[in-house]
Amino acid sequence: MGVEVRTEGVTKSFGSQRIWQDVSLTLPPGEVSALLGPSGTGKSVFLKSLIGLLRPERGAIYVDGTNIVTCSNKDLYEIRKLFGVLFQDGALFGSMNLFDNVAFPLREHTKKSESDIRKIVMEKLDLTGLLGAEDKLPGEISGGMRKRAGLARALVLDPQIILVDEPDSGLDPVRTSYISQLLIDINAQIDATILIVTHNINLARTVPDNIGMLFRRQLVMFGPREVLLTSEEPVVKQFLNGSMQGPIGMSEEKDEAQAAREQAMFEAGHHDGSGQEIEGIIPQMRATPGMPYRQAVARRKERVRETMHTLPHAAQVAIRESLAENDDTQVLAYNNADLASYEGGAYDTTVRHNTTNG
Ligand SMILES: Nc1ncnc2c1ncn2[C@@H]1O[C@H](COP(=O)(O)OP(=O)(O)O)[C@@H](O)[C@H]1O
Ligand SMILES: [Mg+2]
Repeated sequence: MGVEVRTEGVTKSFGSQRIWQDVSLTLPPGEVSALLGPSGTGKSVFLKSLIGLLRPERGAIYVDGTNIVTCSNKDLYEIRKLFGVLFQDGALFGSMNLFDNVAFPLREHTKKSESDIRKIVMEKLDLTGLLGAEDKLPGEISGGMRKRAGLARALVLDPQIILVDEPDSGLDPVRTSYISQLLIDINAQIDATILIVTHNINLARTVPDNIGMLFRRQLVMFGPREVLLTSEEPVVKQFLNGSMQGPIGMSEEKDEAQAAREQAMFEAGHHDGSGQEIEGIIPQMRATPGMPYRQAVARRKERVRETMHTLPHAAQVAIRESLAENDDTQVLAYNNADLASYEGGAYDTTVRHNTTNG
């Protein structure tokens, strides 16, 4: 199972510019978490701080129990090996083909033979749907393929923690769903702790077990997905609805005068830019049938049961519904799928669809 990452009161500034302060959260081991926030709120800075590429001036970041803010460079070097990171642009070397890009961390950090490296690289390219593209240069493939290549490279050292910065940026909604599915499947297969930084609402509503949001230099909330998705917090509602109406403005936040002017405009019937009103919870994505059962689901269920009484009422209701809906049926569906695959038969998809819809 992946390791725990915990931040305690971390604060980061560049010169006199405070990026965020007093951020405390725990990424539960082996679960998928997402950090939302408008552009420029410091999501990428947060992600880089977790691997020690940037150093917060206050607070502690514990990775598997080691505080990486204060540990030695040598320890930090070791801790970094636990991470696989997909940076926003994929960060591939433009002059290397996909095979060499994906092989790079293995050649750099291990003494594996070329034939072992080949085996691992081909396995990860297969996992990310890139078999056959290994000779292509990054400039010759689509943005979606570059993302997947970046993910393949993030996976070669068998990371226990995977950090993903804006997996959807530059992708159309369909390709975004495919990469979402891939992230869930990877979690099912290797049980790593995953943090996705994103401002994609659909991804946030369907992928993570836990969600947090950065706004106005604070972590507005962080917890089980049900908490944020049922939140009445104006900034959260505005963000989830992609609406101009609310505290988030053109460049992060707006002042009261601006908000009042716009409010009058919307009340007079001006379109606030949002689509259909987004309310409540939609089912979380599941691992692709035939994948191993995603262990995080059962673990999270236990964890959430224990802390449920501390959560807002709406979140409790939503959690109770999802607990009732998921109980046993999912395990059953996967057992059936496993059975079918053992027997070489086709999956009984009706079972799975029924359980998906509760
Ligand atoms: N290395 C750096 N030096 C100075 N300022 C930086 C650096 N990296 C990021 N910033 C600033 O930090 C703020 C947050 O950036 P970022 O984390 O990229 O936001 P997000 O990923 O949420 O869009 C921005 O104002 C950006 O200019
Ligand atoms: Mg960013």
